[in-house]
Amino acid sequence: ACLCSMSFGYPTYPVDNSVGYGRTFTGIGAISGGGATSKLLRNYPLQQRSEILDYLFKPNFGASLHIFKVEIGGDIQSTEGTEASHMHNSWDENYNRGYEWWMMKEAKMRNPDIQLYALPWGFPGFLKDAYDRPWGNIQSTADYVVKWVNGARVYHNLTMDYIGIWNESPYNITYIKTLRKTLDSAGFTKTKIIASDQNGWDIAGDMNKDAELKNAIYGLGSHYPGTNSTPEAVALNKPLWASEDWSCVDPITGPGCLARTLNQNYVNGHMTTTVIWNLISSYYYGLPWYNSGIMTASEPWSGHYVVPANVWVTAHTTQFTAIGWKYLSHGNGVGKLASGGSYVALMSPDEQDITIIIETLEHDFSICTRPPLAPFDVNDQSALFELKGVLGQKFKYLNTWYSRMAANGMPPTLFQQRNPTKVNNGSVYLYLGRDEVWTLTTLQTGFKGSYPNIPYSRPFPLPYIEDFEDYEVGAEPFNLAQQVGAFEVDEVNGIKFMKQVVLEEPVHWFWCKIDTYNTTLTVIGDYNWKDIRADVSVKLEGQNTTDSVFLSVRTTASGCKANTESGLFLFFFPKERLYVLSADLLRKTVLISGNVTTVTNNWDVISLEARGDHVWGAVNQNILFNITTPISITNGWVGLGSYPYGTAYFDDLHINKV
Ligand code: GAL
Repeated sequence: ACLCSMSFGYPTYPVDNSVGYGRTFTGIGAISGGGATSKLLRNYPLQQRSEILDYLFKPNFGASLHIFKVEIGGDIQSTEGTEASHMHNSWDENYNRGYEWWMMKEAKMRNPDIQLYALPWGFPGFLKDAYDRPWGNIQSTADYVVKWVNGARVYHNLTMDYIGIWNESPYNITYIKTLRKTLDSAGFTKTKIIASDQNGWDIAGDMNKDAELKNAIYGLGSHYPGTNSTPEAVALNKPLWASEDWSCVDPITGPGCLARTLNQNYVNGHMTTTVIWNLISSYYYGLPWYNSGIMTASEPWSGHYVVPANVWVTAHTTQFTAIGWKYLSHGNGVGKLASGGSYVALMSPDEQDITIIIETLEHDFSICTRPPLAPFDVNDQSALFELKGVLGQKFKYLNTWYSRMAANGMPPTLFQQRNPTKVNNGSVYLYLGRDEVWTLTTLQTGFKGSYPNIPYSRPFPLPYIEDFEDYEVGAEPFNLAQQVGAFEVDEVNGIKFMKQVVLEEPVHWFWCKIDTYNTTLTVIGDYNWKDIRADVSVKLEGQNTTDSVFLSVRTTASGCKANTESGLFLFFFPKERLYVLSADLLRKTVLISGNVTTVTNNWDVISLEARGDHVWGAVNQNILFNITTPISITNGWVGLGSYPYGTAYFDDLHINKV
């Protein structure tokens, strides 16, 4: 039922700011991270990369985001891979690792007003307590996070607006207070804490019991709230955020979920920010949640990318609002429509501009990944929006942007500018179909950006050679998607190579335990590779070395479930002069093992080839085995890694089709 009356036989919705406002809008955002979701973007050709970033961040062009949330890398697998920590160890600090610094600067370059928000999914091992949480020494963990915030400012001139606690993992009240104090004493009094990035709103209860905690927290962030908060959370009178939401991969229900959620997170849950996971699906096909980005760009070698409906659904809100605008109050510009759907009206702080966003998404075309969606009906309907008082006199026309989602077999119409809608004595009449999104606004600035000639999709090119010579020391090689551990370029005697640098089990993200298996992994190439040969030079040298390194083909092991997926893994133990060929990352299914006679104690070359139903492997050209492969192992990436944690060097990776 709507909070509306009827006039001229139509359901009527007052839009009235004279009765006071609702909450202040705090912006729409998206996440790079949680994890490694932007991995492949960095290596795109400059032109396409810049176009993609424009679609995401440029004001009045595309998704035009207000908030950019990034992962504070913790050397842990956080969904699509691991993001490097700024401190692999207690004695180490580096503020140039990975790609988030670069992404934040690209975002700021396009929109200096974009707000930045950072959150760890996991932490390096030196911060661990006995229960595998980052509370070994709470002050050290706060220092670690504040060092990152400071590194952002000192090395990149980036100011963090918001900081979180520990993604979807149990929070620690002492830590939240300690983080606040540590930020303050380091001069970051304006960096606000959002807590606690878990499902639900339990933190509200703790805040009610503890004034210091309540003061430390600026806003409450819940994940996948299904547009609902709790009366207790609302009563705190602090900003409520869906600090992670969406995760859709479906090209039809995904944009629909987004349209419904962006409106109804406020209508139902009083949430004033929605943060979309994820910003861009820039990770290999075959990894979990492929396509779960506002955009998809996973082919740096071709430059191909996709601009899905998500961009335009987001634009319906982002292009016509700004952080600091005010929602009108429920029943006076915010509510549900009589025949299904919702509307939200917002005004600029100077009260000169108004934007009304309307969505009529049907249940089946707006199902989100989670939580489940209770049934509801939407029908075609007339609606009369009545701009009351000065609003009705002030505005004669409202600029009108229209979308209809791809639903019921119809092709979509996306972000189309229509003739302005007339305001007749304060009344705006609309006939609303199903699965539509409308923006009525006084702003003139809406724009549907576009770039011509997106390159065609192509498979990962072969042959492939990587000698790591073109990278800076410390850089993460572009095409190697680290899954467990961290792999970065190092240099000894003028020769550059890739080094696995994680030395001990990190504090993993609560929902992803793969980092506890002590086996590192990075993957490269094409998930569909079948007949393939790879060669790589390996070396164990210096302190803290691992015991073994492996090269794998037909590897599907990846993400949080890398332990349960397969591949052909050739482990090489140079000290023991042994090899093991296993069908899984953890060497539970050993296919064959034996001695290696040709060990150089310098760079050793491992070779592995799968062709049809056979696989052979060699060390230093000395063939070790040539056997039939299990029929279940059919395709996958090339992989590299080590057992256990510890340093390992890799160089001269060659991949060829056979
Ligand atoms: C969230 C998590 C993200 C990602 C997402 C997939 O819970 O924070 O990192 O895994 O789920 O839906």
